[in-house]
Amino acid sequence: MKKQLIAGISALILGATSALAQDAPFGTDADADYAAKIWSAMEAANLAGDGMLRSFPYEGVAPHGMMLETFYSSATIDGHTGDLIVKRNYGPEGIGTDEVLADPGKHLGAVTVMFRREKGFDADNQDWFWVKFLPDGSLDKNPKGMRLAGKVAKGADKGCIACHSGAEDYLFTTDHVGAMMQ
Ligand code: HEC
Repeated sequence: MKKQLIAGISALILGATSALAQDAPFGTDADADYAAKIWSAMEAANLAGDGMLRSFPYEGVAPHGMMLETFYSSATIDGHTGDLIVKRNYGPEGIGTDEVLADPGKHLGAVTVMFRREKGFDADNQDWFWVKFLPDGSLDKNPKGMRLAGKVAKGADKGCIACHSGAEDYLFTTDHVGAMMQ
């Protein structure tokens, strides 16, 4: 009985601690620093910033933009090399390829990125690090003001991880990946 009580109290304390901001699965300073390194690696690979590579945008689905461009690459961050997938999200609703191609900068709404970190970073979710950048490389935030970088919305029933866990390897476009990575 006493043991159970202690276990119960420890669970309560653990619960309370994990609710503290610095223990959040995403949006911490460490996550923001790591995301900044990813953005720099993207700039170095011409996947972001001035002179970035372009592909032919295709029609998207919610929650990503109305028109999308997706690039499959890899990057090395702090000595670790992992898969890097960059998705540019264009909007608003109703735009087509011609408008995006004519002025991509004006229509770019966000850049969503998945980077496969070192083993053990997030073993439950194949070690993916999730980021939602605004076009200038700063981090987008959720309605609670939390920065969207790290194990985004881990444990929640909505968000990057929850939705992508419905896809094989967390990737919806695996056919493309298979073709690109051979
Ligand atoms: C409600 C579901 C949903 C949510 C939430 C979601 N995504 Fe996606 N994501 C998709 C779908 C569907 C695709 C495939 C779109 C396409 O056709 O290119 C996709 C594609 C991607 C891709 C390209 C790789 C792939 O899976 O094909 C990246 C990168 C990505 N999402 C990142 C994110 C990030 C980062 C977040 C959170 C900030 C997020 N996504 C939230 C559904 C979702």
